[in-house]
Amino acid sequence: MSNLLAGKFIVIEGIEGAGKSTAIKYVIKWLEQKRIDQKNIIFTREPGGTVLAEKIRDIIKMEIKGELLQDKSELLLMYAARVQLIENIIKPSLAAGATVIGDRHNYSSFAYQGGGRQIDLALIKDIQRVSIGDFKPDFTLYLDISPEQGLTRAKARGKLDRIERQEIAFFDRSRAVFKNLVENDENAVSIEAERKPKIVELAIYQQLDQWLARLENAI
Ligand SMILES: Nc1ncnc2c1ncn2[C@@H]1O[C@H](COP(=O)(O)OP(=O)(O)O)[C@@H](O)[C@H]1O
Ligand SMILES: [Mg+2]
Repeated sequence: MSNLLAGKFIVIEGIEGAGKSTAIKYVIKWLEQKRIDQKNIIFTREPGGTVLAEKIRDIIKMEIKGELLQDKSELLLMYAARVQLIENIIKPSLAAGATVIGDRHNYSSFAYQGGGRQIDLALIKDIQRVSIGDFKPDFTLYLDISPEQGLTRAKARGKLDRIERQEIAFFDRSRAVFKNLVENDENAVSIEAERKPKIVELAIYQQLDQWLARLENAI
């Protein structure tokens, strides 16, 4: 049963403060309950997850007086970091039979650079195709929260970075893109993330159980 989870890529998506990093812990707990060995659970985050990709993350978050990071540069840096992560970590880990959990992935680029920064989604799709081809997660858990709630949580966590300081309208547009992507993806589900941690945790287990049942039925 649990070997169905070997070589699977599970992604958590959502805006700031939705509870992605918190959800990763639940996914790890669930995998351990399914008797997946800790050494076969690989956790990654985006942008980042490799030495070079983490350096690209720093550039993306960097604020330099007198030089604006152009929206298209930001988009290309996101994909550069993603290529590094996919080719160096995710693909080899999946090939070795690990289960990989990603804190953000491709949908975040559509939500933030497409929705938030209003870059044409067709253009992002083109960049996706030339950089990562048809690589995609096996399952996506999208945590849905209002930007007001999410940013309140993110603020309580610490100082907001360059992207976290965008206006509410930016995150409203990001949220709308996320929702649309998830609705049209049979391997993605939306979870109401404004609820209490325990409720969100149980909802995540329930969705993972349903996904595993689908995998079992597909054999
Ligand atoms: N369901 C929840 N209700 C209230 N606070 C939460 C919930 N889930 C996470 N938090 C808290 O909100 C903050 C942001 O959560 P985090 O998991 O870091 O979000 P993200 O990674 O999506 O930005 C953290 O301080 C976390 O402890
Ligand atoms: Mg996080």
